[in-house]
Amino acid sequence: METNQIGVIGLAVMGSNLALNMADHGYQVSIYNRTYSVGEKVVADNPHEKLHLYQSIQDFVKSLELPRKIVLMVKAGNAVDKVIEELLPLLDKGDIIMDGGNSNFKDTIRRTKDIESQGFRYLGVGISGGEEGARKGPAIMPGGSKDAYAFVKDILEDISAKYKGEPCANYMGTDGAGHYVKMVHNGIEYADMQLIAESYSILKHVGGFSNDEIGDIFTEWNQGELESFLIEITAQIFKEIDPQSGKHMVDVILDTAGQKGTGKWTAEEALNTGTDASLLASSVFARFMSSQKSARVYAESSFDIHFDLPKINDKKAFIETVRQALYTSKIIAYAQGFDLLANAGKEYGWDLDFGTIARTFREGCIIRASFLNRISDAYNNNSSLSNLMLDDSFKNQLIDYHQSLRDIICTSMQFGISLPAFTTAISYFDAYRTGRSSANLIQAQRDLFGAHTFERVDMEGSFHHEWNDNNA
Ligand code: 2AM
Repeated sequence: METNQIGVIGLAVMGSNLALNMADHGYQVSIYNRTYSVGEKVVADNPHEKLHLYQSIQDFVKSLELPRKIVLMVKAGNAVDKVIEELLPLLDKGDIIMDGGNSNFKDTIRRTKDIESQGFRYLGVGISGGEEGARKGPAIMPGGSKDAYAFVKDILEDISAKYKGEPCANYMGTDGAGHYVKMVHNGIEYADMQLIAESYSILKHVGGFSNDEIGDIFTEWNQGELESFLIEITAQIFKEIDPQSGKHMVDVILDTAGQKGTGKWTAEEALNTGTDASLLASSVFARFMSSQKSARVYAESSFDIHFDLPKINDKKAFIETVRQALYTSKIIAYAQGFDLLANAGKEYGWDLDFGTIARTFREGCIIRASFLNRISDAYNNNSSLSNLMLDDSFKNQLIDYHQSLRDIICTSMQFGISLPAFTTAISYFDAYRTGRSSANLIQAQRDLFGAHTFERVDMEGSFHHEWNDNNA
């Protein structure tokens, strides 16, 4: 009794894989699941001498050394509160609860306050990497008190993914910071995926490339600066054949994208913090649009608009233009994601370290990419960088590449291809580098119809103008 080093509650695939990962790293792991048979199956399928299943939550709690370290891997939402409610009367002061699920950061802030005020310790731990990551090493983003983190730092580092030996597990900040960073990770993931999907659209519909050719293009891209998990699996997807129909897998999959909500939360947070994360939000909207399948099919037949495919003379140059457009948009997506983090830090009082965040994303998680080294370098060079696009290295590349993004958008638009993320990317870039925008007119309109006042370019203060009705 009281000898196991860590406990996991919730043994669906993420929880059981994380527990096995801990056991593999030499920890004695107690495991518990509401439905006992689920736990029995986990143990039967993965016999491991360091994995100890308990039928009652009381025995599970008793099996843990003090201060107890318990990871919750239950469904985000009410289930987390219910398990905490059940757990607290069984714990001793100072015990540590870690929520490793996809909880909303606001719930994590609330739970931290509530639980810590009762003398327990609480961490909201963002975990990314899917099932395989949980089993072999995910990226881990813990948030909460540093004091609580000190007790679990070694375990989390041990089970995390390693980038050249460096653990991809780093303390993010107080209360909800870990879950927030994980949420933004997912928002960026939505953007990365949408940008890749739009590149596919261009290659297929404008370039006229076959699935096999597109697979080869992504394989080649993965050898260069776009090298990443998502480009790698995209190349793999285009090679896959459906055993049932003999067609390419990608052609038999319905074009309606699912989602679990973290992308939507990111878009909501862009609005809540007053951040232009339009590219990230457009990727969420694109999934909404994708789900309107029958409406789209109906509209396609209603709008009888057809385009002849263009003739691409220099295929190599065309592919390179798409590649540069994708990379440009990727820089802009990450600029928005990190800008959102910067604003959230101010809003919620977190001292976020952007270089550390970029380093944490380098292995284990879905957006892992060599690109993240450049982001880490950018913040190492200047920790108060106001926008990633202004880092010298990214700035020079945007100067080199932006024309490709414009060219490919213009060409594709001519042929009726929808590119919500690409077009938002270039609009954001152009808006950001426009010293004097057209918002002066908006201020004038607001002042005319609502006397909302405006500032002037030539003197300090707040002004109202008596707009002349006679001009109407
Ligand atoms: P179950 O196997 O008993 O359903 C993912 O759904 C995990 O969360 C599962 O391990 C599931 O347990 C657990 N879970 C979901 N709702 C729960 C609740 N209200 N109390 C405890 N565990 C819950």
